[in-house]
Amino acid sequence: EALFKDLPADAASAHPAWLYKAITRAWPEQANAVFEANNTHPPMCLRVNQQQHSRDAYLAKLSAADIDATTCQYAPMGLRLSSPCGVEALPEFFAGAVSVQDEAAQLCTRLLELQPGQRVLDACAAPGGKSGAILETEPALQELVALDIDEGRLERVADNLQRLDLRAHYQVADAADPQAWWDSQAFDRILLDAPCSATGVLRRNPDIRLHRRASDIPELVSLQRRILDAMWQCLAPGGILVYATCSVLPEENEQQIADFLQRHDDAHSAALDVAWGIDRKVGRQLLPSNEGADGFFYAKLVKAAATGH
Ligand SMILES: C[S@@+](CC[C@H](N)C(=O)[O-])C[C@H]1O[C@@H](n2cnc3c(N)ncnc32)[C@H](O)[C@@H]1O
Repeated sequence: EALFKDLPADAASAHPAWLYKAITRAWPEQANAVFEANNTHPPMCLRVNQQQHSRDAYLAKLSAADIDATTCQYAPMGLRLSSPCGVEALPEFFAGAVSVQDEAAQLCTRLLELQPGQRVLDACAAPGGKSGAILETEPALQELVALDIDEGRLERVADNLQRLDLRAHYQVADAADPQAWWDSQAFDRILLDAPCSATGVLRRNPDIRLHRRASDIPELVSLQRRILDAMWQCLAPGGILVYATCSVLPEENEQQIADFLQRHDDAHSAALDVAWGIDRKVGRQLLPSNEGADGFFYAKLVKAAATGH
């Protein structure tokens, strides 16, 4: 990808020109810190399976295994390792005690306000990091449907949940086309962790800089829009849909949700009562430069309760 000659050498050498410009336009004050963060090694974070251990108990197991870690600031079950290690070194990993997941990705569960008996849809579930977090947080759901369009990737969800000793209903389907798979039973909660540019996780996936094109963004925005509109039909009155991306581009995030709210009179965006991220017109943005977590966007959409007869 051609790079502009007049860009600062360090940033220009690491980001294609279109992305450099997009991030600078979206985050004029934070852009340099974002570029810098994108060039650092990402931390390895764990999510302790609260059905098996408290965070402190697992921290003690790590310490006994000579693995140095600290607690994450915002994710209640999150631990950050001082240096990455293979999962086989983690105590009881294969018994499901812990999963590898960045702190930002762990933050979705609280936003969903999970309760026993709810029917929950994880609409873009693979490889299952957030499905696991949902079921560990609230194991008494009526059902978790883990849906993904990619059959091979959905098998990874099943493998991950099996290791954690958790159960879900698996559905290979296009979330944008509920007529093909939905049984008309509304979901109380929907997590839409949408396919996106992954511009918030460049430090984990450096090759995104090479493969991602500016022309991908409008296509992704249109796909996210179709999935969002379809998922809204499947949500029960009074239900909550959490929209998430690992993007730092406003088109996929606050702009996508602002446009959604324009199209749907029965939707409102709830303020997120959290200490992390940057408050946006709608939703909240984590930048990889802020809390040391991955770049992520979250919005919480609430569907109007059914009106009387
Ligand atoms: C960001 S990843 C999800 C990560 C996952 N939630 C986790 O925490 O492990 C997005 C997923 O969306 C899936 N996907 C893309 N288009 C889809 C569609 N139309 N319907 C359902 N899933 C789709 C992809 O196969 C991919 O697995």
